[in-house]
Amino acid sequence: MNPGSFPEPLTADAATGDLPEMARLAANYSTSADGYAEFWSPVIRPVARRMLETLPWDGARRVLDVGTGTGALLPDIQAFAPTAHVVGIDRSAGMLALAARDGVRLALMDAPRLGLRPGAFDVAVMTFVLFHLPDPAAALAELRRVLRPDGGVGVATWAEDPLPAAGTMWDATLDEWGAWDPSPPPARRDNLMDTPEKLAALLVIAGLRPRRVWIEPVEHQWDAARYFGLRTRFGTSKRKLESLDAPKREAFLDRMRERLRELAPPDFLYRAAAVCAVAAR
Ligand SMILES: C[S@@+](CC[C@H](N)C(=O)[O-])C[C@H]1O[C@@H](n2cnc3c(N)ncnc32)[C@H](O)[C@@H]1O
Repeated sequence: MNPGSFPEPLTADAATGDLPEMARLAANYSTSADGYAEFWSPVIRPVARRMLETLPWDGARRVLDVGTGTGALLPDIQAFAPTAHVVGIDRSAGMLALAARDGVRLALMDAPRLGLRPGAFDVAVMTFVLFHLPDPAAALAELRRVLRPDGGVGVATWAEDPLPAAGTMWDATLDEWGAWDPSPPPARRDNLMDTPEKLAALLVIAGLRPRRVWIEPVEHQWDAARYFGLRTRFGTSKRKLESLDAPKREAFLDRMRERLRELAPPDFLYRAAAVCAVAAR
């Protein structure tokens, strides 16, 4: 599968109700997709996998991964449901272009408006996507629509997502150097779902029945080289860097290599927490 397979609308589409900020978010993910796959995905995959372990996989014949991104969870899904048809959808063409995998069908779709038949799936998962959506309860209701009665849903989102000290230093220095974000992402909605109680309430509003909702710790020890990779190849920091002209950017990066070398391992320790939920239709 190549990126050309997924014609990505880069502007809002009034006819379909697409939102300009969601188009921008998708484009942002597309331009960082390889950095995401290499540096960020390994940090969050273990917690998503722990959530997957608790889903009702027995007899699952059709499984949907909403916001599959670069498809990090697809091998795990296929291991849990080896005979199932697996479908991965995402709003970002660049992310999907890295998700191709034997036995999985991929499609460019918007989570709140799935072009999928009602009741078609036995299990649906959505990991680290819900906080991006303007109306998370409506997106969960859309997920419910495509699940069969009694089908299972697994969700993971953020309870706490703080920067390690190295990240705080990096961001402050970028700002001091006059870097700016040419494509600011829409505001996240973590405050609607950052506790088990809040996530359970969203599931209930969407007509789903929470079975278990809990906090999973997320811990990752970065080192200077990999943290440098994350901050230069992924997300807001990558875009801000690109706002500096080439000589200034090189000078900034030299300075950051030096400053990262001066830091100690605790400055690179990422300690976060996810809220996970398993629910039934
Ligand atoms: C943090 S990544 C998570 C990817 C994957 N689930 C994982 O755990 O690695 C968020 C993903 O959600 C996708 N996304 C954001 N808004 C979306 C929407 N409205 N519809 C479908 N996908 C969306 C992004 O394009 C991105 O690939």
